Amino acid sequence: MMLRSVELVLPGAAEAAAFMTDVWGLALAEARDGAYYLRGSGSFPYIFSLEEGPERFVRTNTFTCTSVELAALERRVAANGLKAAPTTAREPGGGTGFVVEMPDGELFRFLVGAGEVAPIKGRDLPLKLSHVVLNSTDAEATADAVERALGFKVSDRTRGMVFVSCNPSHHSLAFARAGYGSFNHIAFEMEDMDAVMRGIGRLRDHGMVPVWGPGRHGPGANVFAYFVAPFGAVVEFSTAVDEVTEDYKPGAPEDWTWPANRIDEWGMSDRDEHALSVAEKAFRFRREWTPQPLPNAAATPR
Ligand SMILES: [Fe+2]
Repeated sequence: MMLRSVELVLPGAAEAAAFMTDVWGLALAEARDGAYYLRGSGSFPYIFSLEEGPERFVRTNTFTCTSVELAALERRVAANGLKAAPTTAREPGGGTGFVVEMPDGELFRFLVGAGEVAPIKGRDLPLKLSHVVLNSTDAEATADAVERALGFKVSDRTRGMVFVSCNPSHHSLAFARAGYGSFNHIAFEMEDMDAVMRGIGRLRDHGMVPVWGPGRHGPGANVFAYFVAPFGAVVEFSTAVDEVTEDYKPGAPEDWTWPANRIDEWGMSDRDEHALSVAEKAFRFRREWTPQPLPNAAATPR
């Protein structure tokens, strides 16, 4: 199971895509019907899409999996009574699978048969997505739902977040204890720490400074630098996230504390709390869609 892509809808998609290619460092894979599909250097045909629309929202968070995994997921989703529907992807790579709605209305999409492409080279092109963080009304309830219905696994808990894995990476997802549902941030995996630092330099050339970072996190131990993109979302350069084994014991909030005035391993940067709090509310979830029975489900979700 891999986190492949995130699909956002927003006004000004062309300008947002131009920022993500010309400044952030992604490559344009394809543009059609008002949507911009952006890729990294890895084998996914795209990892981030920006689609023109009248308001900002998260369309889907997309995972790729095997047909065996998909069938098992469909049964679990149905057994847990979550709203879902079969889907065929129209985006680059295609693929079929289903969409499922989680507690705050966030849609997760699982695809099989999604095509891959030849990797490309490019200095400091992100490789792929590292993780997505979503704000939750009740992060424990959402994490419980993804464990029960999707087979994901909580890898750590802090005072602010619940981290979740779906493969050896420490986390592909995390849910922030925000008290409301929205898109918190998207993290792009960079080749190494130098690539993160050069990314910070590249944004500095465009008059932008990090809203948090550079630093190194506790859970997952990844290096990070967060920015607020001009289109309103928080975007992160990340690298060197830990891999965990099946027997990894999730830490509790009391296991992940910092000394006074520290908010990361290095202690060299502050958080712009105001800018982050505004940006973390910019993209919401939508519940207007039509659930349908899944073909492999033993029971019909209500
Ligand atoms: Fe992150």
